[in-house]
Amino acid sequence: MKILVTGGTGYIGSHTVVELQQEGLDVVIVDNLSNSTKDVIYGIEKITGTRPVLEVFDLCDINLTRQLFQKHPDIRAVVHFAAYKSVGESVKEPLRYYHNNILSSINLLKGMMDSGVDHLVFSSSCTVYGQPDKLPVTEEAPLKRPESPYGNTKKVMEDIISDTVSSSGLKAILLRYFNPIGAHESAEIGESPTGIPDNLVPYITQTAIGKRDHLRVFGDDYDTPDGTPIRDYIHVVDLAKAHVVALKRLVDKKNKKDCEVFNLGTGRGYSVLEAIKAFEKVSGGKLNYKIVDRRPGDIVKVWADTKLANRELGWKSGKGLEVMMRTAWNWELKLAGKF
Ligand code: UD1
Repeated sequence: MKILVTGGTGYIGSHTVVELQQEGLDVVIVDNLSNSTKDVIYGIEKITGTRPVLEVFDLCDINLTRQLFQKHPDIRAVVHFAAYKSVGESVKEPLRYYHNNILSSINLLKGMMDSGVDHLVFSSSCTVYGQPDKLPVTEEAPLKRPESPYGNTKKVMEDIISDTVSSSGLKAILLRYFNPIGAHESAEIGESPTGIPDNLVPYITQTAIGKRDHLRVFGDDYDTPDGTPIRDYIHVVDLAKAHVVALKRLVDKKNKKDCEVFNLGTGRGYSVLEAIKAFEKVSGGKLNYKIVDRRPGDIVKVWADTKLANRELGWKSGKGLEVMMRTAWNWELKLAGKF
């Protein structure tokens, strides 16, 4: 069975390709390499022994998208990651974000419809909940307008997919990720943000390796035990495995609704200072950080209710915060030629 993975050379995409291949599935990746490099497929090959097929083009081109499905008529299902993902950039350039993330997804759906490919796993985000009124947050929680255009593209895509499901034979699973961090144990693949990282963990590891002078901790006056915001950090390999389970659920027709939604988190929240402490423990050094003002748009605290995913997918995250930090650190060391 052949699976199309869009954005398969990206951070979560590449870890998912590894898990799919390790389950014996054939993978075709589509990526425009706008935020990744071709080298990622060699990392995947080192881990799995198989180099995935990589088609380099932009899904915003409908003709190339249609040609892809003609070239690979045996594609049975799609895992869709390809998207721009910087919150800050999306605030500055909303049209670029809406254009890219929405148009590419619409083209993908059209290509799927034309070729009779009717299984889709979509990469969504807990950002669709905003600051939830109740924690842990369940899939039933009311959706709030996301804080950024990036977040809103996820919300809009959920709606577009759900409407397409209602009007066609498409079956979809929308996976709402909490905060994916860490890297593959082998350190052959990991997160490689271009430019200055927005997210906490790449910023921590880049500070520790000396690429950045210090980490700014955005606020310590929140209503949390140590004053810093709380997130549900989840190991990227645990997250990747959930995609394989979701895909099989669709293909084996085990889904209970045509469009299902699952939270992917650990169910446990950690503060920024707790995350730093875990990093210091596994790296054996002190991290240079300074408390600065709050970052606009940050929510105070969020963690997942994972019961639905645990029960329905038979999936559970297994790796703890220290493993997340150790693998992220090994990846940074590997990039510096020190692992
Ligand atoms: C962010 C996005 C979310 C997106 C996710 C994808 C926002 C509001 N949300 O989540 O929509 O799906 O990234 O990766 O931006 N922090 C620091 N210093 C830093 C960086 C982060 O203190 O240099 C803190 C933040 O204030 C936050 C925590 O670390 O409390 C996690 O931040 P981050 O990794 O950026 O993720 P989110 O903001 O939760």
